[in-house]
Amino acid sequence: MSTCTDNWTEVEAAAKLVLGEPIVAFIEARRGQAHPESQLIAVLHRVQAEYGYLADAHLDAVAQLMQVPAAKVAGVASFYHFFRLKPRGKFMINVCLGTACYVKGAERVAQKIIEELGITWGETSKDGVFTLEGTRCLGTCGLAPVVMIDEQIHGELTPDQVPALLESYLKKSRA
Ligand code: FES
Repeated sequence: MSTCTDNWTEVEAAAKLVLGEPIVAFIEARRGQAHPESQLIAVLHRVQAEYGYLADAHLDAVAQLMQVPAAKVAGVASFYHFFRLKPRGKFMINVCLGTACYVKGAERVAQKIIEELGITWGETSKDGVFTLEGTRCLGTCGLAPVVMIDEQIHGELTPDQVPALLESYLKKSRA
């Protein structure tokens, strides 16, 4: 493989430290292939699957290894909503903001979650347990309003039920 980097061995060693050997191998298999942006997105997905989010150090290492400008990698990572640039909590709360849920009071449920956790959309609670996101229709409109925590659907929620629901996950996080 030819590179335009004089200190390639050092770059590769540093990237292995940041990303781990399996991801470096994943990148090496894709470097120079057709559709570079698709390859970059696939790599960023792989990194996020491993670490839960994309830290600056991950993005820099990907840029070095794929030999694309760091600004390009950062631009792709921030453009697509499915990439996370901050660490996520142990549990991901997704409040459905689709029409059926909205009509049935999703906003009030969301407001209660926001009050209870002291965070807003896209943030993670200080204890690192919860990250709050809004989402489009989850396909369970008959249970509106719906909140999904990780893969678990909680339907017909009222604001009054929110504290106990969050507490049940807090207990799980301590288990
Ligand atoms: S609108 Fe919320 S599940 Fe469909």
